[in-house]
Parts: sequence; structure tokens; C-alpha cells
Amino acid sequence: MAKNIQAIRGMHDVLPQHSPLWQHLEQSVAGVLASYGYREIRMPILEQTELFKRSIGEVTDIVEKEMYTFEDRNGDSLTLRPEGTAGCVRAAMENGLLHNQTQRLWYQGPMFRHERPQKGRYRQFHQIGVETFGMAGPDIDAEVILITSRIWRALGLDGLELQLNTLGTAEERATYRDELVNYLQAHHDLLDDDSRRRLAGNPLRILDSKNPAMREMLDAAPTMSAHMGDVSRAHLDFICETLTRAGVPFVLNPRLVRGLDYYSRTVFEWVTDRLGAQGTVCAGGRYDGLVEQLGGKPVPAVGFAMGLERLVAVLEEIDPDAGAVSADLYLVLMGTAAEREGLVLGEALRNALPGREIVCHCGGGGMKAQFKRADRSGARYALVLGDAEIEAGTIVLKPLRSDEEQFVLARDAVVATVVERLSA
Ligand code: HAM
Repeated sequence: MAKNIQAIRGMHDVLPQHSPLWQHLEQSVAGVLASYGYREIRMPILEQTELFKRSIGEVTDIVEKEMYTFEDRNGDSLTLRPEGTAGCVRAAMENGLLHNQTQRLWYQGPMFRHERPQKGRYRQFHQIGVETFGMAGPDIDAEVILITSRIWRALGLDGLELQLNTLGTAEERATYRDELVNYLQAHHDLLDDDSRRRLAGNPLRILDSKNPAMREMLDAAPTMSAHMGDVSRAHLDFICETLTRAGVPFVLNPRLVRGLDYYSRTVFEWVTDRLGAQGTVCAGGRYDGLVEQLGGKPVPAVGFAMGLERLVAVLEEIDPDAGAVSADLYLVLMGTAAEREGLVLGEALRNALPGREIVCHCGGGGMKAQFKRADRSGARYALVLGDAEIEAGTIVLKPLRSDEEQFVLARDAVVATVVERLSA
């Protein structure tokens, strides 16, 4: 027998018992974003490989070893997007959204990275991301962080820690980078292979290393703050003061550097301790150089993206029943005439009860089997219709979640009675 075909490693189905929680998450986030005046943009999942190389950076884990890159039938090199920022910048530039205007945009969808799968880390995962353009001051940095905080409140998520850092401007970072490289070279014997490789191309990333053998040496490494100019310092101060006044606690983490090259000044991450090693549920920052780097006039930009699989996992851990949905009413239909009548009655009931879940049994089967389905649907009531009821012009209403006895209704009283019962 042929072997069953399975999903690709690290790529998962969202099963029907989980999709209500996904929908709740997506709708809650969309609602908060709309309340701040953000507009949705939808970009293709495939882009030219060059876009990611030029934006995320050649010497990053993503571009070096995680992209799904292939040649299409014309021989063009295409890549499944590993993140949304690059595509969003491309789309905004290409469609003239950045010319003399500000933009507050959001997007959602699947991203692809060929990482080693583990809990919270997948090869296809989903993000909701925000990108803002044309605003240079720290007010918009603070706004996007306030948005994330409001999203957690809307979802009932607590226990997340906000970590904040500044990477300074490109010039400030360059002088810091030189000092850091000198320090790391002086401790070359303590560096692991990965860090030695990064020393030339991306030394700041070494600060982010999780290797405990390097911890002490990295803790003593020089930090960015000595190289920060007045403007960068004031930028960070404004954000810190605004967050404090708005009641959003944060931790300044000078080791927070991020895995993508496009950031300048503000970077931040929201971290949970509920997910083990993959604890970052949302991350972002300012990237003032990226539009120019991709060939446009300089446009300041700030954004973030949250990982939906990780948020779903945290929500499920807090409340295992989160997102559970059930039917309100199940129609048990015995025989062809009842099936036909039932479907028509179902329409009348849905007209009268918008938003309620009313399920007509389809596919036949005996009374016992149909009641089993009715019970599994979680419905509070069943309506039972068979040949005898059709003949008598009646229907049976049976409460499924209480000891109350079933009773017989006249057909023309069904809709009003069900409306009354379900509204109680
Ligand atoms: P990122 O830190 O690479 O940033 O990803 C953002 C979030 O996506 C992470 O914090 C995590 O929750 C989730 N995530 C990333 N990789 C995986 C994975 N393999 N499996 C599951 N979840 C994952 C960005 O992507 C930037 N584009 C964010 C940004 C937008 N910065 C500015 N604007």
C-alpha cells in the first residue's frame, strides 16, 4: 500500500478545535489595531530573493541558512518570505505610499524559515506585523509599544516582560562595533565557533548568545550606552517616560540586539517564561535606514511582529478551554420529509437568531446516533422532528444540559420559543 503523505516537518495544520482560538486572537489584534488607525496591507508570500538579502542582511542566520529559496520556471530566484517587513517596505515603495505622507500599516500571514523545529519554533509560522512609515520622532516608537501592551490586555495575557534597548544610529553603532570587536578579539579563546564566525560580519549578534560558557565574558563586554549621542539618548528617554506614565513596565536590556540587520535606535521584545527557550512572542523596533537601503529616499520607520503560534500556546496554557465554541441548537431529523423540513426550519431559526450556531443533522442515521452528535456539538437544546411530528404539525424541544423534561411544541410556535429559550 502506498505510504500516506504527511505534512512537511515544522509545518502544522490548525485543526478545527484550535481555529476558534486563532480567530479570537486575530480578531482581537485587528480590533486593537483599528482603534489606533492602522490599515491592513496584504503582500505576496513570494518575493525576489534579493529583497531579503538586501534588507535582513547577508550575514544573518535567516539569510545564510534559513530561507526557502528556489528558482522558478523562468530561472528567477524567489524566496518564501521569512518575515513581513521587507515585503511591506517593497510594497509601500512600489505603490507610492511613502511619498510625503505617513503610514500606519499592518499585515498577517504565514512566514517561512528553515530552522530546527522545536516547541514554539516552526518552519511555517504566522505573524501579525505592524509597520509605520514617515515618523522620525520617538512618539511613534512609544505608540507601537503601547499598542502591543493593549493587545495583551485585550487577550487577557499577563506575565509578559517588555525588554527595551537602543542600538543608536548607524554611525554610533559603527564606533561601538569597533570597541566591541576589540574586546571580543581580546577574549577570542572564550568564543564558540558560531561567535568566531560572527566576529567579522555581525559582532553585535554575539551579545545575544545563549552559550553559558560565554555569559560572564559577555556580561563584562562594553555596552552601547557610552557611544550614544544626545539625540539617541533623548529618543530612548522619551519612550521610557511615556511608557512609565502610561503604566507599562519595561526592563532596559543592553544585550538586546535582534537577529535582523535593519534596526537602528529602538529595539524591543516581549518575552514570556511559559514557553521555554522560545519565549519571545513579539519583537520589533525602528529601522530608519531600510527604505534607502532598498533604493528609496530615506524614510523613518518603526514596526514589530508577533508570533501567533507562540501566543496561542500561551493563551492555551493560561486557560485550556480558551476559545472553545459550541452549538446552541441541534436539529435531530428522522426521515426524508423531516430532513427537508428541518433544513427550511433551520433557515427560519437563523433569520431569527443571528450569530447563534444552529446545526441541522445531515447524513441520516438512527435517533441514538443523532443524539450522540447533538451532545458532542455542545448544544443546549435539540429539536426533534420525525414523520409523526410532521403529520401532527408539532416538534419536540429537548433540553440537553439540564434535567428538564422534553416537551412538544406546535410548529408555528417553534421559532418564538427557541428565541425565548436561547435568550434566557
Ligand atoms: P522576528 O524577531 O524575526 O522579527 O520575528 C518576530 C516574532 O515572530 C518572534 O518574536 C516570534 O514570536 C515569531 N517567530 C519568529 N520565528 C519563528 C519561528 N520559527 N516559529 C515560530 N514563531 C516565530 C521579525 O520578523 C521582524 N520583521 C519584526 C519587525 C517588524 N520589526 C520591525 N517591523
